Amino acid sequence: MDVIKTVSAMHSARTRLKEPVGFVPTMGFLHEGHLSLVRRARAENASVVVSIFVNPTQFSPSEDLARYPRDLPRDLALLTGEEADIVFVPEANEMYPAGFAAQVSVGKITERLEGAVRRGHFQGVATVCTKLFNIVRPTHAYFGQKDAQQALVISRLVTDLNLDIKVITMPIVRAPDGLALSSRNAYLNTEERQAATILCRALHLAETWWRQGERRSRALHRKMVELIKTEPLARIDYVSIADSKTLSELDVIETQALVSLAVYIGKTRLIDNLILA
Ligand code: PAJ
Repeated sequence: MDVIKTVSAMHSARTRLKEPVGFVPTMGFLHEGHLSLVRRARAENASVVVSIFVNPTQFSPSEDLARYPRDLPRDLALLTGEEADIVFVPEANEMYPAGFAAQVSVGKITERLEGAVRRGHFQGVATVCTKLFNIVRPTHAYFGQKDAQQALVISRLVTDLNLDIKVITMPIVRAPDGLALSSRNAYLNTEERQAATILCRALHLAETWWRQGERRSRALHRKMVELIKTEPLARIDYVSIADSKTLSELDVIETQALVSLAVYIGKTRLIDNLILA
């Protein structure tokens, strides 16, 4: 496995890779969720490239960029185990040298949900992914449903800018108690870790009521909020029941819905989601 730090070295390594080339962009501190993407990429491609880059432009000044968990030696050991061919690990000044100014905006779907509360987040994600796609030139790129809106934004970007990449979205990998795996779970203490299951329990509650025939978003929303409020360590950022393609909020679920939420557990902001269809 080659560990590559510069854009020029990545470009020349790319010319030697057999196609198809599967690519998994990450911010590191890898867990089974990330590794599920790498395994799928490994199964479907002749070559696998993983990037590890904690992208500063997708964090707002009040967010956790400086303390975002990092463990490169451990990540590299895990990726060796998954038989990745190349790990691209650029420094921030390699990706954003002096004078860098371009931005990629993906429009309306970036203004809802995460985009409404994390201003500029998806511009940062879209810009760094466009750069990574141009640097790695994958044929296939793998994203997790854990970040449902991000997966939609990337698909929109790839379609609209005619990038010749197939985007594959993989299911959410969860801990045995249902908590969606996330690098940010590392921030939780023991008590908070237990409280954090409130996110998936709220989703599960909505699903149960939906299965029993409840189609009114307001009713489902209320049930979720009531349940989350029983957890003293939890503070709701948003609970949304939206069209799973356009992300516009639904009054009534006719065919499908993306139920998603962001909740602070103590100081840690967690997200999770579920598709009802
Ligand atoms: P990061 O949070 O490291 O996630 C990298 C990829 O792993 C994303 O596609 C994410 O959806 C997926 N992932 C995370 N947790 C998962 C889980 N529990 N199950 C399945 N997939 C999971 O998302 C980013 O990094 C960044 O925004 C990035 C795309 C790398 C751009 O900087």
